[in-house]
Amino acid sequence: MEIARSKAAGEALNWQDIQKMKYSWCVVCESMRLMPPSKGSFRQAITDFTYEGVTIPKGWKTHWTVHTTHKNPKYFPEPEKFDPSRFEGKGPAPYTFVPFGGGPRMCPGREYARLEILSFIHNVVTKFKISKVDPNEKVIYRNSPFPANGLLIRLEPVGN
Ligand code: HEM
Repeated sequence: MEIARSKAAGEALNWQDIQKMKYSWCVVCESMRLMPPSKGSFRQAITDFTYEGVTIPKGWKTHWTVHTTHKNPKYFPEPEKFDPSRFEGKGPAPYTFVPFGGGPRMCPGREYARLEILSFIHNVVTKFKISKVDPNEKVIYRNSPFPANGLLIRLEPVGN
């Protein structure tokens, strides 16, 4: 709301505004920690290696998962608790929060995704009151949780 108030009528958000949305980004990160949009990815071993006593021969396919670190109490105490403050300050240790992967094949769209998500949230919460059409809509599971009827929402413009 502070950022919205600093803008003239109809003035668009700019890159500096996005940098100021620190707490909103903590909330997004905590949401992606609990429910990562991508569950992991595949790799191919380019050489024989041993990890935690298991030998993976060259050429084998491996799959890394996001949940194994995101839900690990060693890195995220009380992992089921929604707590955006985990991302304040220095935030999680390297390679423990991996919604965009890690290493050389890390998602190249992550900064664009941040821009898109924060602009979307900013415009929705500053311009509309938002409510679910069906507050009791069920969540079904495909490969990830999915609102059973498409999550219809009601948007009511708020005066600004
Ligand atoms: C919240 C949004 C997004 C999430 C959670 C996400 C997540 C991921 C993950 C987990 C990977 C695999 C990384 C790995 O294997 O180490 C990936 C790869 C990739 N993402 Fe995203 N992504 C998002 C948005 C985007 C956007 C907006 C773009 C493009 C504009 C994008 C383009 C790509 C591409 C091209 C790759 C393949 C990179 C490679 O294999 O070298 N992503 N993403």
